[in-house]
Amino acid sequence: MQSEPDKHALTVERGPRCETCGWRLARLVPVGARPYTDGMEEQGKRPRDRYDVSGNVEAEYVDAEQAVLRNRKGITTLADLQLAEEQALAEAYERLVSEVRLDTPMTCDLLRHIHARIFGDLYEWAGRWRTVWISKPGITWPAPDFLDGNMAAFEKNVLRKHPPKAIKDDEAFCSAIGEIQGEFLVIHPFREGNARTIKLLTNLLAVQAGRPPLIYDASEEGQQEYIDAAKNAFKRDYRKMAAIIRLALARAKPTT
Ligand SMILES: Nc1ncnc2c1ncn2[C@@H]1O[C@H](COP(=O)(O)OP(=O)(O)OP(=O)(O)O)[C@@H](O)[C@H]1O
Ligand SMILES: [Mg+2]
Repeated sequence: MQSEPDKHALTVERGPRCETCGWRLARLVPVGARPYTDGMEEQGKRPRDRYDVSGNVEAEYVDAEQAVLRNRKGITTLADLQLAEEQALAEAYERLVSEVRLDTPMTCDLLRHIHARIFGDLYEWAGRWRTVWISKPGITWPAPDFLDGNMAAFEKNVLRKHPPKAIKDDEAFCSAIGEIQGEFLVIHPFREGNARTIKLLTNLLAVQAGRPPLIYDASEEGQQEYIDAAKNAFKRDYRKMAAIIRLALARAKPTT
């Protein structure tokens, strides 16, 4: 007997199991990431100072300027690393559209899988929450200690609040994606690549909600606007992010 075509699959072909985090279609496997404290609190040893990042690969660079993160490929220049990341991002998009279905739930497991798909060949810490503090001029993101709780709350209160079926019109779509991106960027759970990861997840959600993958303004001005929108999200104000999504959606919609 011929089997029914899978009406939920974006393509018929199913992707292989992720070699970094084990994620596969609807079957979600915990990442099993090694916690930062592993091996540090053996009997009789003092726990490590929580601010001490020595020996933690997430804090390691290969250059004196601290621009090039230690990576699996032995890349030593920023230009080469950026190129490798760009290629990895394009490949991750291709693989994920064949792995994620119209009914795949948007979850923390999927976020980690997306991160592993993009960065798994490059960084040891791909697919797991960061274990170091990170900052950019004017901002230090929340402590790594609370990421499990913060991300569980993000999944429950933000991701689950906006299932694709609940997104009726473009206004609802833009405010949902604006809130998802804004809140995620406030938590900043990954060591690097947070914006790329949440843009990829929300593009998958866009497709599930019957919309095209978004096209962002990649100019310097557009990038600055995006940073300003992420700053506003710290005050739970997602209007600027929603406005960016509105423009990105307009760019992506085919003109008739
Ligand atoms: N000063 C700042 N205050 C608040 N948010 C910021 C600031 N600088 C950057 N961001 C946010 O952090 C994001 C960058 O985070 P990260 O480097 O982890 O991700 P990324 O994928 O490398 O980002 P991008 O593709 O934007 O370079 C920016 O896109 C912006 O949303
Ligand atoms: Mg970055």
